[in-house]
Order: sequence, then structure tokens, then C-alpha cells
Amino acid sequence: MVNLILFGPPGSGKGTQSTKIIDKYGLIHLSTGDLLRTEISNKTPLGLEATKFMDQGLLVPDEVVIGMISSKLDANPEARGFIFDGFPRTTAQAEALDKLLALKKTAISVVLSLEVPEDELIKRLLNRGLTSGRSDDSSEDVVKARIVEYHNKTAPVADHYAKFGKFRKIKGDGTEAEVFDLLCKEINELVAEKV
Ligand code: AP5
Repeated sequence: MVNLILFGPPGSGKGTQSTKIIDKYGLIHLSTGDLLRTEISNKTPLGLEATKFMDQGLLVPDEVVIGMISSKLDANPEARGFIFDGFPRTTAQAEALDKLLALKKTAISVVLSLEVPEDELIKRLLNRGLTSGRSDDSSEDVVKARIVEYHNKTAPVADHYAKFGKFRKIKGDGTEAEVFDLLCKEINELVAEKV
């Protein structure tokens, strides 16, 4: 199996690039942000709880997102591999993911980290907020709060994987096609190793 984490701050292009990667490599896309937004639109108790955090740009509690990922892994026993987008976002989530994958006799292959300057992130998210209806893109304060959460809680996840030699930085501020080419080079090497 090839299991990728697409890592990076809000607006770095994780969702955009995940869509291209699943088309090319046939992996299953697990985005905790998308899963949470589905819960919110279905007005489930989990969604109602999550929205209190998301609207402020804060992370949802670990146990909520770990539970969602665990169910999705169980629901896809025949998968060729997964691409995790927006998860793990804390060291506790990374440790939980390692355990869940070990139970399935697999592991994270590599973490690909999209590196984009902060002013470009803010510009992208505020632009998207004009048309997406995503409440957490609608104000500069909330966008900045998401970036602060990333630096405080998510950036340390890089060290968790770097110590196993599984962390790669990718230049994320080119065009979508340029970023995709860089990601494919890394993924092709992994796929070749597995053949
Ligand atoms: P989530 O949905 O994961 O949002 P995020 O990480 O803030 O990421 P975004 O979707 O905003 O950005 P992205 O990196 O995917 O970029 P995208 O491709 O969309 O999380 C939302 C919230 O849910 C969190 O704040 C938290 O509350 C909660 N949550 C989710 N997961 C959680 C977890 N594990 N633990 C706890 N809480 C969790 O691109 C952004 C924009 O840029 C788009 O308009 C796109 O068209 C544009 N763009 C993309 N690439 C380029 C490019 N190369 N050039 C120019 N524009 C580009």
C-alpha cells in the first residue's frame, strides 16, 4: 500500500492536489475537513459540536477526528492506499494514525509538505471565501487564527515523521500544474519501490 499525508497550512493546496493525485494513482482521499463539513450540512450532533470550533478557526478535539478516520479506514478494507488531507493535525493524531495503520499491517509511506508563504495563503483563502461560502474563509481574523493553530499545534507533526525519514518539503507556490509535477515525482519513486 502507498499511504500519503498531504501536509501544509490552510490554503497550501492540499485539497486541490489531493483531487489530482486520487485520479492518477487510485488512492482513497480522506479529508477530515470535508468529513466535518458533511456532518455540519447533515446537522448531526458531531457536526453541531464541530462547528463551534471550526467557525473560530480552531481545531476540533482529537477524539472526534480520530474516530472519523478510524471508521473510514475500516470501511475501505480493499484500498490500494490512502491520501490523508488535513489529518493528522496534532502529534496525538499522528500517534493514533500510526497505531490504526499498524493494526492493518501498513504504515505512512511519506509526508509531502506544501510550502507556501503566509501572505499567499491569506490571499488564496480570502479569495476563495468570496465564492465558496466556507464560513472559516470569510474573515481575515478567522483565516489568521487557522494559521496560528497550524503553527502552534500542527507544525510539530513534521518532527514526528522527520525522525523516521518520511518528511519531504515541496515548493507549493507555483502553478497547480507545477506543484502536481513535483508531487508526482515523489509519488512515482514510492510506487516504483513497491513494484
Ligand atoms: P480543512 O478543510 O482541512 O481546511 P484547511 O487545512 O484549513 O485547508 P483548506 O481546505 O483551507 O486549504 P487546502 O490546503 O486544502 O488548500 P486548497 O486546495 O483548498 O479544515 C477546516 C477546519 O476543520 C479546521 O480549521 C479545523 O477546525 C477542522 N479540522 C479539519 N481537520 C482537522 C483535524 N485533523 N483535527 C482537528 N480539526 C480539524 O486551496 C485553497 C485555495 O487556493 C483554493 O481556492 C484553491 O483554488 C487555491 N489554490 C490551490 N493551489 C493553488 C496554486 N498552486 N496557485 C494558486 N491558487 C491555488
